[in-house]
Amino acid sequence: MSSTADATKSVPPPPPPPPQPAHVPNSNLAHMNPLPPSVFTLPQTAQLEALYTIIRDKETSRGDFLFYSDRIIRLLVEEGLNHLPVVARTVETPTGATYNGVGFEGKICGVSILRAGEAMEAGLREVCRSVRIGKILIQRDEETTLPKLFYSKFPQDIAQRYVLLLDPMLATGGSAIKAVEVLMDHGVPEERIIFINLIAAPEGLTTFTKRFPSLKVITGWIDEGLNDKAYIIPGLGDFGERRQVSFFYFP
Ligand code: URA
Repeated sequence: MSSTADATKSVPPPPPPPPQPAHVPNSNLAHMNPLPPSVFTLPQTAQLEALYTIIRDKETSRGDFLFYSDRIIRLLVEEGLNHLPVVARTVETPTGATYNGVGFEGKICGVSILRAGEAMEAGLREVCRSVRIGKILIQRDEETTLPKLFYSKFPQDIAQRYVLLLDPMLATGGSAIKAVEVLMDHGVPEERIIFINLIAAPEGLTTFTKRFPSLKVITGWIDEGLNDKAYIIPGLGDFGERRQVSFFYFP
């Protein structure tokens, strides 16, 4: 026998991989079935679920939490932009040919719900160069326990823009509803607001979509529900704390 054959014989083949539980795509959508027609989720792929698994893991470092939550935010922003209306636009290409394409119809701006929403601003700026961004701070009123507006700053022509409203965690829906009310008070019609969200609880999503049925919601994942402290379950804990968002920036 040749020495090559001997060597082959002496190396045992690697053991077969252990059986993996079957991945059930879209299983989380059963938490809200049927989905309200105004709600759009990211494609529920295994890759997306892997990204969510990393950011949900309490052992994930802050660096990884930032990196992987930013990846999901980028996907969400891109999906949000898919819902903006376009108009016909014809251009001439360098070959001298004419291309009948489309262009975005109107101006946009982002509005982040402080503090956690601020973490989504960079993702929006990455894809929309020099986009205007407004801010809104809503907190629970100590006396009434209702969400109360503490601060807002918007582009002065916000009523003429499409608004991408940014808040990563939709729990009870109280802050998001208040934020939309404030935007509508500034003249932005409900249909021109797109709410962009990382994780939604069915309770908050139901309340929000019943209140604003023609406002589109783009969410990455619908979780099981809320605990008695209004944290999303399984969730990822306190988003602001995980990212260590430690200051407000009031321009
Ligand atoms: N805000 C968070 O950061 N996490 C939750 O689970 C709910 C609201």
